[in-house]
Amino acid sequence: MSIEKPRILLSAEEIDRRTAELAAAIERDYADSERLLVIGVLKGSIVFLVDLMKKLDLPLQVDFLQAASYGDSTEPGEVHILKDVDLPVRGADVLLVEDIVDTGHTLSTVLRMMSFRGARSVKLCALLDKEARRETEVTIDYRGFTIDDHFVVGYGLDYAERYRNLPYVGILEADET
Ligand code: IMP
Ligand code: MG
Repeated sequence: MSIEKPRILLSAEEIDRRTAELAAAIERDYADSERLLVIGVLKGSIVFLVDLMKKLDLPLQVDFLQAASYGDSTEPGEVHILKDVDLPVRGADVLLVEDIVDTGHTLSTVLRMMSFRGARSVKLCALLDKEARRETEVTIDYRGFTIDDHFVVGYGLDYAERYRNLPYVGILEADET
């Protein structure tokens, strides 16, 4: 495969600044929480989750889950849980951390699942919001950036499992026809 250099959409500095703002809001909102459970949605959220949690001066637990949406372009995918959380969700204030909300199918399923398991509260923090692509309503409580409908990579996001290690979010030039 040819490896192109993506065009920078959000620089590492911009992401860092915005992450600090989100962390400040989260700190304020969860100051009185008895048990904050931060759940990263694998794999795309890993870079964002690490940077975000380092800025959170709060007692918290961290766990992960991995979901996959199977479907074609005409039908909403069926969401499967490939890796579930290890820690108990009941009674916890759950903060899901996601790289990007696209159609919203993955997150709406995962959010409902956490409520069903008896979380005390469930909120969502997403670095990127591709709002124009939404097919299912999802409330993003902490949103990094709203972006146009481009395929983006870097800062955890991949194309065929590549580019996750880029320190910025970029657009693949092949996407810009
Ligand atoms: P959806 O909101 O259920 O459609 O799916 C969201 C998931 O699709 C994200 O967690 C990403 O893993 C992936 N995804 C959506 N848009 C992009 C993109 O532009 N680049 C890389 N991954 C994406
Ligand atoms: Mg993802």
